[in-house]
Formats: sequence, C-alpha cells, structure tokens
Amino acid sequence: MSELDLRDKRVCVTGGAGFLGSYVIDRLHRRGCTQVSVPRKKDFDLRDRAQVRRMLEAVRPDVLIHLAAVVGGIGANRDNPGSFFFDNLVMGAELIDQARLLKVPKVVTIGTICAYPKHTPVPFHEDALWDGYPEETNAPYGIAKKALLVMSQAYRQQYGMNAIYLLPVNLYGPRDNFDPASSHVIPALIKKCIDAREAGHDFIEVWGDGSPSREFLHARDAAEGIVLATERYDDPEPVNLGTGEEITIKALAELIAELTGYDGELRWNPAQPNGQPRRRLSTERALDRFGFRARTALADGLKETIVWYEHQRAGA
Ligand SMILES: NC(=O)c1ccc[n+]([C@@H]2O[C@H](COP(=O)([O-])OP(=O)(O)OC[C@H]3O[C@@H](n4cnc5c(N)ncnc54)[C@H](OP(=O)(O)O)[C@@H]3O)[C@@H](O)[C@H]2O)c1
Repeated sequence: MSELDLRDKRVCVTGGAGFLGSYVIDRLHRRGCTQVSVPRKKDFDLRDRAQVRRMLEAVRPDVLIHLAAVVGGIGANRDNPGSFFFDNLVMGAELIDQARLLKVPKVVTIGTICAYPKHTPVPFHEDALWDGYPEETNAPYGIAKKALLVMSQAYRQQYGMNAIYLLPVNLYGPRDNFDPASSHVIPALIKKCIDAREAGHDFIEVWGDGSPSREFLHARDAAEGIVLATERYDDPEPVNLGTGEEITIKALAELIAELTGYDGELRWNPAQPNGQPRRRLSTERALDRFGFRARTALADGLKETIVWYEHQRAGA
C-alpha cells in the first residue's frame, strides 16, 4: 500500500477545534505534520460559499479533512432536524465543490453511522448503506452526511477528485461535549451519575427502555483511523471506523454507574425515544484497506473519560 507522507503537506482540518478534531490534530502532529490549519466558524462560516473560497485560498491545502458539522444526541437531533440537515449538507457541498475548483489533491469527508438504515443486518456492512431509510430521529443528519458520500463519488468520477469517505461509529472520550442539551449518551450518563452521587439522589432517569445496543469508539482511535486513511486509502468505497463490539444501553448505564461510584436506581423512561434498535459495524474493510484496528477497550476509555470529567468539574 502506498503511503502519503504528511510531514511536508499542508493539511486543513475543518472542525479541528471540536471534540474529534482535537484528536485528529494531535495525531497529525505526532506524524510530524507541521502545516496544519484549523479554520474556525467565527472566521469562516463554512455554509457560506464566499467564506469557504476565502478560507481555501488562504490555506491552499494539499489535504482537506472535513470534520466540521453540527452534531448531537437523540434530543438535539429531534429538536433541530432542519438545521442539522441544512448545515451539514451545505457545509460539505460548498467545501467539496470549492476544493474541486482549487484542485485540492485529497479530500477526506467524515460521515456517520446515523446514515445506515434503521434495520440494517448486524454487523453493518458498508454495502448495506443504501438498503433502507435511517432511524427517524437522526435521518436528516444522517442523510445530509450520506449525500456527501454520493458527491465524493460523483466528483471522483467526473473530475478525478481523490475524495474518500469514512463512517465513524458513536464516539466518546475526554473532551467530549457534556452539555445536557446536546450531549451523546456516554457523557449524558456520566454527568447524571456523578450529579446524583454528589447530590445524594437515589435514582436517575435514563431515556428509553435500555434495550438498544450501541458500539462506541474512543475518539483517539477514530482519529488514528482518519489519519491512516488519509495516508493510505484512495478508493471511492466508504469505510466504517469502529470496534466491532456492541453493548446494550442498559449494560452501558450499569457500567457507568459502577465506574462513577453511583449506587442508586436507574429508572428507565420508555416515553423517551430509544433511537436505532441495534448498532454494530463490520470493521474488516478498514483493516484490509488501511490497517486500522481500534485499540482502546470500552471500560478503559470510560475510566479515562470519567477521570477527565471529574477534573474539569473540580477545576470549574
Ligand atoms: N461525536 C460523535 O459521536 C460522532 C460520531 C460519528 C461521526 N461524527 C462526525 O465527526 C465530526 C466531528 O464531530 P464532533 O463530535 O467532534 O463535533 P464538535 O465537537 O461539535 O465539532 C464540530 C466542529 O464543527 C465546526 N463547525 C460547526 N458549524 C460550522 C460552520 N457553520 N462553519 C465552520 N465550522 C463549523 C465547529 O467549529 P468551531 O469550534 O470553530 O465553532 C466545531 O469545532 C462530525 O463530522 C460528525 O458528524 C461524530
């Protein structure tokens, strides 16, 4: 497999100041890449064509890694389906098109597991992406991102753009978003358990009935997968990034309660949505095409995340 040497490349990482982005920047620096730029929304709103153009003209990247997105858990997706659809679609479409006009040699776009059909045979194989409609609450977000896969493939076909597309599973780790209005399930559960432990409450409410399963990838592992693909992968087929291991939300909540030292009741609220029934990815393509394998065991990554969060709270 031929490998792109990133050390002498100008790499632009949109969303590089975000959660996943912070790990991607770290991985690039570890590779010896010194010319990394991170456009911020306050300087360049990537929904705006002129600002995208101005940003790319200023940076002139050899590699564009597009991570910028509006993201959130089930609640945020349910409350903002319109803006999640529009912002994610338009940001990606403007960036990829301007990257074409400015002849950016390599474009890496990050999709999401939310693009998969609601009822996908487990493990989710990349070839099943188009076999049905996604779970309703995250369909606008998932479909907007999936459209960027079509765009990447179409631009490769018509313009010869080296555009690749990766689909990370649910991410977690230190520096995750703990804001209850938009957080994903792991930070939401960690915060609830620690709040309840500190306040001496004897129960916490947990959304849904606990039956769905999820797969979780440490953001550091996801970042390594993204950088490996940037170095080694040049084909049009989408590639999953995950661990290939699933856990039910009930087992996850029990594990987080144990690791945070919360010993009260987990009170399930079936009136709140469960989201997709099951999630587990097939991870063979990433291993086969660019040698990616996740390294962090879930319990270890959760402990690391809890320690980080407790430090943050203490600092605050
Ligand atoms: N978190 C997950 O579980 C997960 C799972 C699968 C895939 N992904 C994908 O991974 C990527 C990163 O997610 P994340 O969790 O790291 O998100 P995040 O922490 O919210 O970071 C998103 C970044 O996008 C930038 N952004 C948003 N709107 C923008 C705009 N209009 N113009 C310019 N920049 C804008 C923000 O930049 P500023 O900081 O400058 O405001 C922010 O840093 C996304 O593409 C997401 O779909 C995430």
